[in-house]
Amino acid sequence: LIKIETVAGLREALSPFRKVDKRIGFVPTMGALHTGHLSLVELSKRASDVTVVSIFVNPTQFGPNEDFTKYPRTLEADATLLEIAGVDVLFLPSVVEMYPDGATTSINVGELATVFEGAIRPGHFDGVATVVAKLFNQVEPDLAFFGQKDAQQVAVLKKMVRDLCCNVEIVIGETARETDGLALSSRNRYLSATERKESSGICVTLVKVLGDVTAGKTLRLAVEDATRYFQTICPNATLDYLDIVVIETFRKMDSFNGVDKLLIVIAARFGSTRLIDNLVIDRPTIL
Ligand code: PAF
Repeated sequence: LIKIETVAGLREALSPFRKVDKRIGFVPTMGALHTGHLSLVELSKRASDVTVVSIFVNPTQFGPNEDFTKYPRTLEADATLLEIAGVDVLFLPSVVEMYPDGATTSINVGELATVFEGAIRPGHFDGVATVVAKLFNQVEPDLAFFGQKDAQQVAVLKKMVRDLCCNVEIVIGETARETDGLALSSRNRYLSATERKESSGICVTLVKVLGDVTAGKTLRLAVEDATRYFQTICPNATLDYLDIVVIETFRKMDSFNGVDKLLIVIAARFGSTRLIDNLVIDRPTIL
């Protein structure tokens, strides 16, 4: 595992591989790595000749009252996990390396960045799109790997890649889950024991919507019923949203309307910890 902190050093390390047409796979992360990240590394290892992982807690994607300063930083443990996983290059840029003095250009993908997560976290997706565009320019990967857990981030980045003709293929890894269904997230470590217990209700609620719609309930009724259900099984949590949307645009849907797959999305707060999750829902055959 080679650790590199500068863009110049990264380019120098990757250029021999590029010269002989090796496929570069890239997994961008903010560290505090868990099995979800490692499954993306695994996908990259299988599909690429060289795997690059970045760890950069990106300040521009955090709001002023969010957890930037307390976001878990576990560099030593992360590096050990990546070494064991067989990662070739670990890119660890500083904030100044990523945002040199006077850097003001940012990327905005439009309306998609303003709904759901974007409505609750204004500017978040501009920060994500901007840092990922920069990382793509620095790493120049053939393939880049992201987790389905952050479904709106995936939609934003796919749109950016298409709109800006980025020369990279985005590959999505399935959401990794705890045995009770809780989606793995670096933020799960903030949960108290009681919050952790209740937090499985997020996944249970998604599964209820899936089951109800598959059994023939209308999308709106399924969402309304599951909203009440969530509040009974997670009495100490606050639901930010529960809805059914188009996967690519996050437009709310009342029916499948010719589309084969939609996405159930949920976000809830357990104390000061915000968790998100989602589940793809196929058009029921009975409709
Ligand atoms: O998903 C994340 O960890 C981050 O949003 C990303 C893609 C690394 C950009 O900072």
